[in-house]
Amino acid sequence: MVDQEFQIIARNYDLAGRASSQIKRTLKALKLDNYLIKRVCSASYEAEINVVIHSVGGYVIFHMDENQIILDFYDDGPGIFDIELAMQEGYSTAKELDHQNGFGAGLGLSNIKRSADIMELESEIDGTHMKLTFFIEVKSDES
Ligand SMILES: Nc1ncnc2c1ncn2[C@@H]1O[C@H](COP(=O)(O)OP(=O)(O)O)[C@@H](O)[C@H]1O
Ligand SMILES: [Mg+2]
Repeated sequence: MVDQEFQIIARNYDLAGRASSQIKRTLKALKLDNYLIKRVCSASYEAEINVVIHSVGGYVIFHMDENQIILDFYDDGPGIFDIELAMQEGYSTAKELDHQNGFGAGLGLSNIKRSADIMELESEIDGTHMKLTFFIEVKSDES
């Protein structure tokens, strides 16, 4: 069982990705399947960057048990104006400064959806909550 919480600071490009790096370290130490780690880490990174560049700040709760990994990203707004539009590849409201820092290609949400087993996204003006679930497959020893 793992339960960790990391703050995500808005506009801080230097710390952007730090929570996801910590999560990656934990997953590697636990020797999870590499492909699973890749999926979790790329989704986590995209979701974290979104909180950094698009919100006023928030946090992520990383939960893991024997069956699943759950990442809950919470921020305090301003929310996603139109989720369906935001999900489209290439759509981005990122600003010039975000582009200068290498962010804002408009592919984050679609990558997250592809990487996670379940992506749940709720957004209102006072905040966005994204819950990502990844199932841990129990491998049999026979092969
Ligand atoms: N946490 C968030 N808060 C507010 N808006 C968001 C958030 N996450 C995503 N968005 C909106 O959804 C759009 C698409 O997100 P994404 O696919 O990650 O592309 P990008 O981050 O490169 O712009 C963003 O440009 C932004 O308008
Ligand atoms: Mg993004």
